[in-house]
Amino acid sequence: MDDLKAKYLGQIADAGDENALEAIRVAAVGKKGEVALKMRELGKMTPEERQVAGPALNALKDEINSALSAKKAALADAALDERLRTEWLDVTLPTRARRQGSIHPVSQATEELTAIFAELGFSVAEGPRIEDDWYNFDALNIPGHHPARAEMDTFYMHRAEGDNRPPHVLRTHTSPVQIRSMEKQGAPIRIICPGGVYRADYDQTHTPMFHQVEGLAIDKDISMANLKWVLEEFVKAFFEVDDVELRFRASHFPFTEPSAEVDIRCSWDNGQLKIGDGDDWMEILGSGMVHPKVIAAGGIDPDVYQGFAFGIGIDRLAMLKYGIPDLRAFFDSDLRWLRHYGFAALDMPNLHGGLSR
Ligand code: DAH
Repeated sequence: MDDLKAKYLGQIADAGDENALEAIRVAAVGKKGEVALKMRELGKMTPEERQVAGPALNALKDEINSALSAKKAALADAALDERLRTEWLDVTLPTRARRQGSIHPVSQATEELTAIFAELGFSVAEGPRIEDDWYNFDALNIPGHHPARAEMDTFYMHRAEGDNRPPHVLRTHTSPVQIRSMEKQGAPIRIICPGGVYRADYDQTHTPMFHQVEGLAIDKDISMANLKWVLEEFVKAFFEVDDVELRFRASHFPFTEPSAEVDIRCSWDNGQLKIGDGDDWMEILGSGMVHPKVIAAGGIDPDVYQGFAFGIGIDRLAMLKYGIPDLRAFFDSDLRWLRHYGFAALDMPNLHGGLSR
């Protein structure tokens, strides 16, 4: 038994890894190992011999087992030490060159117009892109049969069969945020709501997802003159010019009365889009005095309060300002396009520093 002990403790001490240890364990104290075989011999012994040999074999088994686990722990420690020695990191090395991302023109235009409207006293509100059809239509005085619903090429969300709740839609404009904001804040209120909107439409100046910024100003003494001034100030600041020619066209929206659409003078020369001069007009926004029914839908008393609203196409503004001819390219994620038209990250536009330096 002393031989066995010396043999296995020696092997354990020499074992270089866990696999070797496991082989030793099987050979020594496994079910068919040498110690087990010896135990089987106990049956052939005299009771006196057995009384000595039995406990001695058990003690040997215990000793081998604890030598095995001690060695296993020692091997693990050694492995950890080895890893700590090889996997080290010099934290004093210089960092890698920053990867150059860029700001998308839509994000840039959104930051710029937010800065301008902030100066004019508007704060930013947001609403969901998946919208209740009540907020997107009914509350804006667009009832179920109204042709505006069809005109907007609405994407309706799928409802499971037998689910008779009114449908959700991908919002077709940012106007529902008017209602949500009036409900939340009451009057007076002065907000803009920039964000993505959706319509089934696709050509050089239309994409199924695009961006608008809604504006809403409600108080006791707001008139169409205020609307016109705000829009003119905005357009001049945005395009960074002293004068831009705008065309206010009488129009119709269910949620405003009276209503006006605004076009900006521009030209298309050889696919180059330029603002300011030329014989073309590009529509950039709809606006008007908020319809009393819409004010009431927002939970505000239209006999006391009135105001104006507008909805501007952000992508159109970006196209005009940065001379980008095709709206579809905005959303193609083409790296060459993004590098060409993108803006330096971390440059926050503000009116005093110059919007788009
Ligand atoms: N919601 C309109 C659209 O998407 C734009 C619009 C027009 C918004 C007039 C307004 C408004 O707030 O007063 O076509």
